[in-house]
This record gives sequence, structure tokens and C-alpha cells, in this order.
Amino acid sequence: RFESITMAPPDPILGVSEAFKADTNELKLNLGVGAYRTEELQPYVLNVVKRLEALASFSSLLLISFIHFLNRMASFQAENLMLERGDNKEYLPIEGLAAFNKATAELLFGAGHPVIKEQKYVATIQGLSGTGSLRLAAALIERYFAGAKVLISAPTWGNHKNIFNDAKVPWSEYRYYDPKTIGLDFEGMIADIKEAPEGSFILLHGCAHNPTGIDPTPEQWVKIADVIQEKNHIPFFDVAYQGFASGSLDEDASSVRLFAERGMEFFVAQSYSKNLGLYAERIGAINVVCSSADAATRVKSQLKRIARPMYSNPPVHGARIVANVVGDATMFGEWKAEMEMMAGRIKTVRQKLGKDWSFILKQIGMFSFTGLNKAQSDNMTNKWHVYMTKDGRISLAGLSMAKCEYLADAIIDSYHN
Ligand code: LMR
Repeated sequence: RFESITMAPPDPILGVSEAFKADTNELKLNLGVGAYRTEELQPYVLNVVKRLEALASFSSLLLISFIHFLNRMASFQAENLMLERGDNKEYLPIEGLAAFNKATAELLFGAGHPVIKEQKYVATIQGLSGTGSLRLAAALIERYFAGAKVLISAPTWGNHKNIFNDAKVPWSEYRYYDPKTIGLDFEGMIADIKEAPEGSFILLHGCAHNPTGIDPTPEQWVKIADVIQEKNHIPFFDVAYQGFASGSLDEDASSVRLFAERGMEFFVAQSYSKNLGLYAERIGAINVVCSSADAATRVKSQLKRIARPMYSNPPVHGARIVANVVGDATMFGEWKAEMEMMAGRIKTVRQKLGKDWSFILKQIGMFSFTGLNKAQSDNMTNKWHVYMTKDGRISLAGLSMAKCEYLADAIIDSYHN
């Protein structure tokens, strides 16, 4: 009976947005969810996305002609545009849009990489952004690696635990954050990965670790790959910020490419929520790098089998946007410039806030881990109307230069709380 169902707690991240909405104080600041805001603290739709959507819209014929005209003026290859235009709303295949799957694997591994040449060794299927893609991989683990454990960093993005719990995949934590140094506990991390039973899955954040903003150095990544290889573990990358952390798509994929070059088998989940600002379109992918073309074909068939009863087939709109942006040189260039702009704005507020706390300068990506405990985070919200997650994480993407001083005052007051 429904009467027996108890109330679920609010989500630790998305629940913060709900509380923020309900606050009427004009000083309020939402640093909870990881979503990019402009300096005016408004949501941001990338210009390249707006342009594509205008082109795809049949009701904007005049605008289309005008834009085509402008594009021609800029010697723009208009005929390359909207290869995947939104002419119809037919079902996509279970694995998603072919042009998207090709583009997403190429962005990740680099076009021409042996694992993706003609998509030979990687099974890529479109997922419902990062979460949905992680969930597909979790289901594959549950089905084909019975009893295998996933090791996740302590701490990690709150939803990782939910995903593996719901998929009935056992997990445990490896040491990652060291509160003494507000940095990486590298020795602890390596020791815990070494100690895990052979053949465990090791969940790694490709770049811009969420929630800490603390990444291994390139030399540390090499050691991580060494120990994973020694123990026959299977890496499982969550790549939610490619291009959004450093401003460079290639730089942010370097950890993943290091593992690909070693010929290892592994998972990579991708999301286009942040780097292309497509949060609500739920567009991402799961890539399974295999040792043979044959295995990749079989894995793909099983991923499709998992996806079909879960959600049948994925939505098309975001996939078309990604495929068209990546498939057109001019738009690709525009996207990269806007990504750099977003990453740059976050770096600027990080610099300003980091004047008071140098550890903030060492962190990367949209988040910063302040070291504020739960009571102190509560003080941030209750007294200062600064909304953040209770683990002490703040989203710098929701901060403006104008609000930095106010935030610094709130943090100082809360540290003493
Ligand atoms: C976050 O960590 O804030 C984002 O990834 C949004 C989410 O889905 O939790």
C-alpha cells in the first residue's frame, strides 16, 4: 500500500537547489549544484548551441536565411551544417545516434587513435548524460562480473554510491582526500588500490575531481596506471568536465589517453552537461574499451540489451547538437572558444577567492573543497544564505567576482563557528 511509503530525504546536491529557490533573502547565493552561471549569476546557453537550434528550427525560416547569409559571408561551409538536422522525431536506435557516438569517442580518445579507428575496439553507446552512462556500466558489471567490487574515492560525487547501490554492485572506498594537507593522499590511494582484490573496478575522475577539485599530477597518473595494471584491475573513468576544467579538450582527456595507450580494457562515462551546457538534454555516453573488435561488438550488444528495458532508446536533441558542433570545423572552434571562456571565468573567481586561502588555488575545475564541516556549512546557509553541499564543497561556477568578498566573509565567520 502507498500509505506505508516513508518520505525520502532530499538529494544532497539537487535538494540544495530546491532550498535555494525557497529562500527570499536577496543576498542568497547558490553554490550547491555544479552548473555554470554568468558573472550576473544567470544560466548560460552557449552561443554555438543557440545558433544550431535556430538553424534546426523550422519556425525560424527567416532567421535561418539570415544566419546562412552571415555564414556564407564568413566563408562558412553551410552545407556541412545540420548533417543530423532535426527533421523528424523518429526513435533513435537503442545505442543512440551514430554520428554522436563516433564524435564522442573521437573527442575522448583523439581522432585516429587505434582503439577507435573505425570504432573497432571500443563499444560506445549514447547514455542519459553522465549518470545514465555510469548506470549502464554498473548494470554490465552486475551482470558479467558477479561479486566484483568497485572502488570509489573517499570522498566522491554523492551520486556514485547511489548508482552502484541501485545496480546492486558492491563498492568500497580508497583514500583520496587528506584533510591535513587539504590535498591528495597519494600514498593512501596507491596502497588501497594495491590491496583491493584482483580484478576490481577502480572509479577514477578523468579530471577536476568532484567534490575536492584535487587531481593527481601527470607523474602520479602514471603510477596509478602501473598499480592498476599490476593488479589486473579495470579502470572506470567518469569524465564529466572534458575541456571545461583546463579549457582544453585534449589536456582534460590526458588521463584517459594514458590508459588507452597501454592497451588496457576500461570504461569511460562522458557527459556534455557542463562543457556544452546541455544539462537538461541528458546527453552523454558510455565507452567500453575492449581488447578486440569482436569483444567490442558483443559488449555493445549487451549494453543495448540493458538499455532497452530501462528507457528503450535515448533522446535525440542533445545528440544532434554534439554531432553537429563537433562535425563542423567552424562550430567546433566556436565551442572551444566558449569553453575556454567558461573555464577562464571560473579560474578568475578561483584566483580572487584563493587570495585568502592558497589551497583553493591548487584545486581545479568548477568545485572547491573548503574544509567546512557540516555545522559550518549549515552556518553558511542559515546565517549567510550561501547554499552549498554539506560536505564543504562550493561550486565556483555559481560565484561572481562581485560576490567573492561576501563569500570570503561568510567562510571566515563559519570557520570560527
Ligand atoms: C554536481 O555534482 O553538482 C553536478 O554533477 C550535478 C549533479 O547531478 O549532481
